[in-house]
Amino acid sequence: DDNLDTVLVEFDDETGVGTLTMNRPDALNALSGQLRDDIVAGLQQLEAENDDAEGIALRAVVLEGAGEKAFCAGADIGGFSDESAGATSAPSHYDFVREFPVPVIAKIDGYCLGGGLETALACDFRLASEGSTFGFPEVNLGILPGAGGVQYVSKLAGPSVAKELAMFGNHISAERAAEEGIINHVYDEDAFDDEVEAFVTELAGQAPLSIQAIKKSADMAVHSGLEEGIAYDGQLFAELLKTEDHAEGAAAFGEDREPEFQGK
Ligand code: HXC
Repeated sequence: DDNLDTVLVEFDDETGVGTLTMNRPDALNALSGQLRDDIVAGLQQLEAENDDAEGIALRAVVLEGAGEKAFCAGADIGGFSDESAGATSAPSHYDFVREFPVPVIAKIDGYCLGGGLETALACDFRLASEGSTFGFPEVNLGILPGAGGVQYVSKLAGPSVAKELAMFGNHISAERAAEEGIINHVYDEDAFDDEVEAFVTELAGQAPLSIQAIKKSADMAVHSGLEEGIAYDGQLFAELLKTEDHAEGAAAFGEDREPEFQGK
């Protein structure tokens, strides 16, 4: 596995699960320009697992933070004026994560703040340990969450929850974040690794083309009207009907056996 300066990259070819670990634990994994670039490079490295594979090798990606304290404490406070002025290279890791073809799961153990929370919101799933905390402290720095944080939370939890988080800058618990629909699940600290592994392994075993189409469909739902979204789903459905995996799924059903999906 090729590691980058600030991100550890792993790939498990049994399950098809890739893991990216943001690795600046002494700075609570704050998003320096380097870390943001390395997240993109790490995802590109994982995507390259598909190059020599039959079908789709990479099925899901876990994004986590190194160290005991944080998923990510946000933009690097020393450097983010430069970065927002465009000093870091494109594409933005937020867009890259959101548009990545396979699901990205944010595994959150500790602080998940500011740009760190926006990174988690760009992921498809957010799974957190019990003691994790969430917040948008940007207001304390005289700015706002600059990568869509208020937009995401307004859609997931409603605008008044988004305003409360972003206007007060306080942290909320994982339990409250789950109640508000900002994160998917909260697990006990002891069971956290196993629960996340079970979630991700099951997800990675699902029919890969279905998963990719469902990701596109859900993202479409968020930024389109219902009619446009249903029409889009119709197109995705027509494409999936033509795949070998669909033929295999239907055959397996008829033969009363488990299907073997190849991502073709
Ligand atoms: C740079 C950071 C950092 C950050 C923590 N550190 N957060 N460095 N950028 N965002 C560093 C500290 O300086 C310290 O370094 C070390 O990590 C440990 O942090 P402590 O503060 O000592 O830990 P603790 O007392 O436990 O407090 C944890 C904390 C606090 C509550 C999370 O660190 C904090 O409030 N951090 C800032 C959170 C924040 O404002 N995030 C940015 C939001 S703005 P040393 O060297 O002293 O050990 C943002 C904009 C997004 O994200 C825009 C998108 C376009």
